[in-house]
Amino acid sequence: MAVQEINSIREMQVTADALRAAGKRIGVVPTMGYLHEGHGSLIEAARRENDVVIVTIFVNPLQFAAHEDLSTYPRNFTRDVEIIDAKGGAIVFAPVVEEMYPTGFETKISIGGSTQKFEGAFRPTHFDGVATVVAKLFMATKPHSAYFGQKDYQQVAVIRQLIRDLNIDIELCVENTVREPDGLAKSSRNVYLSADDRAQAVILSKALLEAMRAAREGERSRNTFGKIMKNILETVPGIRVDYAAAALADTLDEPDIFASGDEIVFLIAARLGSTRLIDNMVFRP
Ligand code: PAJ
Repeated sequence: MAVQEINSIREMQVTADALRAAGKRIGVVPTMGYLHEGHGSLIEAARRENDVVIVTIFVNPLQFAAHEDLSTYPRNFTRDVEIIDAKGGAIVFAPVVEEMYPTGFETKISIGGSTQKFEGAFRPTHFDGVATVVAKLFMATKPHSAYFGQKDYQQVAVIRQLIRDLNIDIELCVENTVREPDGLAKSSRNVYLSADDRAQAVILSKALLEAMRAAREGERSRNTFGKIMKNILETVPGIRVDYAAAALADTLDEPDIFASGDEIVFLIAARLGSTRLIDNMVFRP
């Protein structure tokens, strides 16, 4: 299958209807483009588990705050299409902003609860933008299953809540974080890093691995996990840590002391230069 590009929502819906009528199983991979191997692993999983893969490419203005990097967000549609082609092809749904948010667009989906913490606290409008666009992408592509990366841990929680609360008939599939050889989680935003900052950026995964090791060795104090991660992060001069936290993996609640059987997620957001990086790891006893 080659790459078939669709830009209109109506044409995407008609195409999805025809595929469904023909008994095809559709897997969707929502992205903002500038694809890397993290996206690639989602596309591969979607290919394994479906008859047709739809990759959406849309840099969603609704999920960027005014001071964030919407205008400089990296883009390379031609290369994205080549990458998708090399993965065996797909339908690429790439609407323009006016197609997704025409004049008069007034609806926003807002998700409460644990999504207000961590990323939600530092980027107060971000997840509303994510939930709204993902709902629209689901309506346009009509998939049976949808693929997201654990890299964006709270984003997965947002989508899970969205699917549950609105009774959306789509299976949520979550794939592991793909990393660079030194451990840095792949991200479209890594291209912003200067050579120095790129070398230092490995500190996020190092801090997470130390928290994982402490958990394996029996540590269960939330404060201690926080200190372990911050001490390592702060060996990098000039790093600004938004948070370095431990929480229950399924609720994001933060007990002072975790129980021995708890699944714990370690979450970090930190800024190096002007680049904000996030990463996480889940400890399963
Ligand atoms: P984007 O940052 O392009 O990421 C698209 C998908 O790829 C997300 O599900 C993300 O978690 C996943 N991903 C990114 N880096 C990854 C890595 N290193 N390993 C595995 N998966 C990775 O996330 C978004 O776009 C947007 O918020 C979107 C969901 C498309 C809504 O606009």
